[in-house]
Amino acid sequence: MKAWLLDKIGDFDSMHLTDVPDPTPGEGEAILELDYAALNPADKYLAIGQYPAKPRTPHILGRDGIGTIVQIHGSDHGWKVADRAAILRGDVGVSRWGTFAQRVSVPIENLIRIPKGWTDQQASCASLVYMTSYQAYTTWGELPPSLVLVTGASGGVGVASIQLGDAMGHRVIGLSRDQKKWDELIEHGADAIFDPNDKEWRKKLKERVGEKKVDLAIDNIGGSLFNDVLAVMGNHGKISCVGRLAGPVPEFNTASLFFRRLKIGGVAVGEYTNDEAHAAWDAVVNLLNKTGERPLIDQVFAFEELPKAFERLAHGPLGKVLVKIK
Ligand SMILES: NC(=O)c1ccc[n+]([C@@H]2O[C@H](COP(=O)([O-])OP(=O)(O)OC[C@H]3O[C@@H](n4cnc5c(N)ncnc54)[C@H](OP(=O)(O)O)[C@@H]3O)[C@@H](O)[C@H]2O)c1
Repeated sequence: MKAWLLDKIGDFDSMHLTDVPDPTPGEGEAILELDYAALNPADKYLAIGQYPAKPRTPHILGRDGIGTIVQIHGSDHGWKVADRAAILRGDVGVSRWGTFAQRVSVPIENLIRIPKGWTDQQASCASLVYMTSYQAYTTWGELPPSLVLVTGASGGVGVASIQLGDAMGHRVIGLSRDQKKWDELIEHGADAIFDPNDKEWRKKLKERVGEKKVDLAIDNIGGSLFNDVLAVMGNHGKISCVGRLAGPVPEFNTASLFFRRLKIGGVAVGEYTNDEAHAAWDAVVNLLNKTGERPLIDQVFAFEELPKAFERLAHGPLGKVLVKIK
């Protein structure tokens, strides 16, 4: 089969399209012939050695994908050859070969059905980012209708957080540097979007929401923006830290947490057990069915154009970036 093989961790450019032997299923595994795979920033983090997992090389990146089962090994699992399936969070693309390939071996327990009414593209790219967002919302326990701030609001996790937050009954404000995306984000459930590079964004937020302060922030960005996020939090506000696309937070002062008793917590979608992941996924699909929202596709590249697809992801998409494999 054709696959994008990463020769060396620490060298993203060592990834090249080549022929590798087809995978064979171990006990409890299925082989998916892939139609689409979706990109995530973590693929690149792993490739450049900035990720906890250090798989053996050569490695194939790619965690999300959709396809048809062409081989299966095991019984009593409810799946059969020719079934269509997508991949729930798991070790695919992390410690085992991933979806930037024509075929991938997946533990059967990590397979999910395509939700009713969803397109293949929508189902190929959703599980990781929507479950991440779901954890960011639910990690603090019961959350009454709240004012939520989402940084990196146009990305995979950001769009998921707008849609899920809206479906949960929250008022969601997003931050995105690209004004061309704002109308669409509002159409999909955001109350308002501001530019994090606009020095006035905090003032504009205040004008929009009045005395109300932010109850929950879902932060995908980190960097110097994080201190601005802290500044708009209300008493007992909570910050779910998902990503740090802008790098470490400079000059973080713990005193900023004292007086409003702010809480900061990490989100790690990989920490879900398989049962928790399936329950979170079911909850996500139910929430999206409530509003009729679906994952947004930014752009679909040809399989041979994977490096270009990564450039698009780094540039800042609106939703998810995919490659079409079949
Ligand atoms: N903790 C977990 O379990 C977990 C799970 C999934 C993802 N993540 C992490 O969460 C982060 C977001 O993931 P994603 O899939 O949503 O990423 P994404 O699809 O690449 O989107 C991120 C968005 O953030 C904005 N952005 C990018 N760099 C920025 C910067 N330097 N300053 C301000 N805004 C910036 C861009 O929007 P604009 O151009 O519109 O501003 C971009 O569309 C990543 O770091 C990812 O690794 C963590």
